[in-house]
Amino acid sequence: MKLFSRFLLRTLVLVAVCIHLSYVPTGGRIPVYARHGMVTSSSAIASEIGKEVLRKGGNAIDAAVATAFALAVTWPSAGNIGGGGFIVYRSADGKVTSFDFREKAPLAAHEKMYLDANGALIPGINHRGLLSVGVPGTVAGLYQAHAKYGKMDWKKLVDPAIKLAQKGIPFSHALHQHSKRLRKEWEAIPSTAEIMYKEDGSYYEPGEVWRQRDLAKTLKRIRNQGRDGFYKGETADKLVAFMKKGGGLITHEDLEKYEAIERTPVEGTYRGYRVISMPPPSSGGVALIQMLNMLEGYNLKEMGYHSADYVHTLAEVMRRAFADRAEHMGDPDFNPDMPVDKLISKEYAERLRQSISMDVASASDSSKYGQIYDGTSTTHFSVVDKDGNAVSLTYTLENSYGAQIIAEGLGFFLNDEMGDFNPVPGLTNSRGLIGSSPNQIKPEKRMLSSMTPTIIEKDGKLFMVIGTPGGRTIINTVLQVILNVIDHDMNIARAIEAPRIHHQWLPDRLDFEQHALSPDTRDRLKSKGHKLNELGHAAQGHAMGIVVAADEGWLAGSADSRSPDGGVAAY
Ligand code: DON
Repeated sequence: MKLFSRFLLRTLVLVAVCIHLSYVPTGGRIPVYARHGMVTSSSAIASEIGKEVLRKGGNAIDAAVATAFALAVTWPSAGNIGGGGFIVYRSADGKVTSFDFREKAPLAAHEKMYLDANGALIPGINHRGLLSVGVPGTVAGLYQAHAKYGKMDWKKLVDPAIKLAQKGIPFSHALHQHSKRLRKEWEAIPSTAEIMYKEDGSYYEPGEVWRQRDLAKTLKRIRNQGRDGFYKGETADKLVAFMKKGGGLITHEDLEKYEAIERTPVEGTYRGYRVISMPPPSSGGVALIQMLNMLEGYNLKEMGYHSADYVHTLAEVMRRAFADRAEHMGDPDFNPDMPVDKLISKEYAERLRQSISMDVASASDSSKYGQIYDGTSTTHFSVVDKDGNAVSLTYTLENSYGAQIIAEGLGFFLNDEMGDFNPVPGLTNSRGLIGSSPNQIKPEKRMLSSMTPTIIEKDGKLFMVIGTPGGRTIINTVLQVILNVIDHDMNIARAIEAPRIHHQWLPDRLDFEQHALSPDTRDRLKSKGHKLNELGHAAQGHAMGIVVAADEGWLAGSADSRSPDGGVAAY
């Protein structure tokens, strides 16, 4: 009887969730339109939770906090409390700010921690195991942003995530695929396997209810004690004990010292639009503005979307911005002389533009700078509330599921963000390893990021909220979505769906998604000297964007169809 009622309960929950989901509009090629408020994220369930907060009178920051905690339950490959990220915020009255909750290197970290006795990088070590884990920043960042700009009770914003973890969510097809693909890695870590597989080791099938009880308990401490529920007390004790047992570096002192930082965003203009984006320790905002500045000198519309000249120009502009990124950028608190003002100036862009030939691809020189990227997961969401306050939030565990390690008894994945530091001091090579000093490891330093949460204004009014995951492709994806809207007159859904290209200086390679370039365009690009590399369909980040069609008073939003569980929720 008991068994039967449990079965009945599960079935009812599942049916309820399915009915509920079937009403969630999901973006894709057609934007979702709404009058009041909107959330677009990599999880339709999390977007819905954010939207409910908006509907109940919460503002964009409140909705962002609730969505971020919900994503930590529903999209654990990147939604997190064990990682870090950035918020760019614009209030309805035009004030802009940003919150930096990037992870930090533990106090015991040092420049040569990933090298063997001969000074060579131990393969994979900076992305694997407890040594790759940076001091998490997400809870501190959300708490600080809420304390400053939130208006709903903190507890009410964490509660929905606790319910999802406790009552369970339907295991999605994507989660099921991930659990198969990562079987070897997860099986090797008992605290991960225990949560990601059933008790007998079998898979959760798509649609089966998946509960995360340890995560629910951790979230309850965060709900009740705020920031301290993560950085002190039981959560901190368990995390530090787990680190000690497994040879990790994070201590109580690291956790207690962690602070999120409110920073002034970087700003630029593009064809009269005001671009507001994330400053260092992200390279995203600076590189985005630098590329837009260079591109302002070309008539991209006339060149035509994805013509050979257009793709060539973009690739050359990307190559230059990524070379500067590699040479100059790192944590601003450790690099007080970083030339940000110069990099985002129109004069410097003009000088760089002069060095671009329309006929020949430049060569990327490995005796100078660039970096290869092989990670697969971060997540972005965009929020606009009924008053026009906007949040652009990107956060990450670095690789998909971070270090693949769930902290024992705590239920959340730990990041492997230490892999974003330059691992071998002084070694920059054509394969894309970077050794420049601004981003070398130092205790308490923040590793350089590419995350580019961005907000755009037109005529002093909110116009666009955009961001994406995708490692170094992030900056180029945000760039291309912006160009698709501003130069190519695409609506936000088409702008996000359109196939993309990517160049990051080193390795010297022009990546393109399947169907991005016709065979004759490819031939023309090859004849200019580009080394082309075709990626699979939808190989790049999951962009999540909202555009305000101000003249008509509508919000138009889209969730990238590259994101399997993504969705827009709006009212
Ligand atoms: O901060 C960064 O730039 C990287 N850790 C982001 C990683 C990422 O986007 C992986 N996702 N697809």
